[in-house]
Amino acid sequence: MRIVAALGGNALLERGEPPESSIQEAHVIKAVRALAPLAAGNELVITHGNGPQVGMLALESAHDSAISRPYPFDVLGAQTQGMIGYWLVQELQNALPGRQTACLVSRTLVSQDDPAFTHPTKFVGQVYDEQEALVLVASQNWEIRQDGSGWRRVVPSPEPAELLDLPVIRMLLERQTIVVCSGGGGVPVMVVNGTGHARGVEAVVDKDLTASLLARQLDADVLLLLTDVAAVQDGYGTPEARPIRRATPAELRARNFPAGSMGPKIEAVCRFVEATGKPAAIGQLGDAQALLAGQVGTLIAPAHAGAQPRGRCVSRARETAMNQQKAQALTQAACILGRDDEAFRLALSQVWDAAFEEGRLAALDELQDRFCVCMK
Ligand SMILES: Nc1ncnc2c1ncn2[C@@H]1O[C@H](COP(=O)(O)OP(=O)(O)OP(=O)(O)O)[C@@H](O)[C@H]1O
Ligand SMILES: [Mg+2]
Repeated sequence: MRIVAALGGNALLERGEPPESSIQEAHVIKAVRALAPLAAGNELVITHGNGPQVGMLALESAHDSAISRPYPFDVLGAQTQGMIGYWLVQELQNALPGRQTACLVSRTLVSQDDPAFTHPTKFVGQVYDEQEALVLVASQNWEIRQDGSGWRRVVPSPEPAELLDLPVIRMLLERQTIVVCSGGGGVPVMVVNGTGHARGVEAVVDKDLTASLLARQLDADVLLLLTDVAAVQDGYGTPEARPIRRATPAELRARNFPAGSMGPKIEAVCRFVEATGKPAAIGQLGDAQALLAGQVGTLIAPAHAGAQPRGRCVSRARETAMNQQKAQALTQAACILGRDDEAFRLALSQVWDAAFEEGRLAALDELQDRFCVCMK
């Protein structure tokens, strides 16, 4: 199985923690403890966020009196890929001796016409209180927005259009190498008009959207978005908040999620599932293995015939449609198999329910095959 797993920058530096190297390295060890089991018998691509790290480097650069201009975001992004990639590769090799691991400084092509350049949305760097943030707006010409109870800098976050280093990533994967790539959404570059040459750009590409593109372009079997919440919640931040255990892209698209945090994850998983028909999951980094097994977190899967998601995401109308499909499938199967007594119907019903529970009820054909096997 080919897995693309994306971990949040917050997983390496929790909100409010000082950006000490030792603190982040300790988080990397915990992260790798969760990620390493995914590599057993699988091809694994790991990508990661870099919000807190790139913000720290931007701040350092802004205060460096030896340079006339702070380092641009493409350069800072590449620096964070090297730093975080090095930590990950080192721990992955400690955890999985004998397995090759590589970290790539990798670029993501963006369009110069992307509307994000006139509407910055991506949070970078540490959280400030309102007063501190207003001082930075005045002194550094930053744009800021509220993030939870604090304030953070925002920069343009254009769409990832193309992954320029994809052939190398594929080559490494085919050699069973664990690849760490596209960190921070990839180093943003654009093609200079008329030259065909790529140049770095002042932006941060969303790592969840890049992870989704990476998973699609690599024909991954599953996309895992690993963050600091156990599952996507319905009614997040309210006393009625409940985890969504399973949903289709359409059901998620019908809801609103905040643009700076859960929104891009939802968009990323929807794009992957819609384009490939394969599953994606969102959940806590520490739960990576259980998430892959569908035991925890939020599973996003296509709406197959008869396999509608359950829980709070299933509307009454959908439930009725699902029961109708089940009844129709049972009647058809009874007809094909030439039996229609009560014990037989009960057995068929149990096959249906088990298949539905596993979320693997792909089509009527598959169900009928299962019925035949069960009745032999
Ligand atoms: N409906 C929701 N369900 C669960 N979490 C939500 C929801 N809406 C917003 N969130 C927030 O989304 C956060 C996760 O997204 P966030 O972008 O902060 O993390 P990340 O992508 O893992 O890290 P980073 O952006 O630093 O790389 C959670 O900590 C939570 O506060
Ligand atoms: Mg995020």
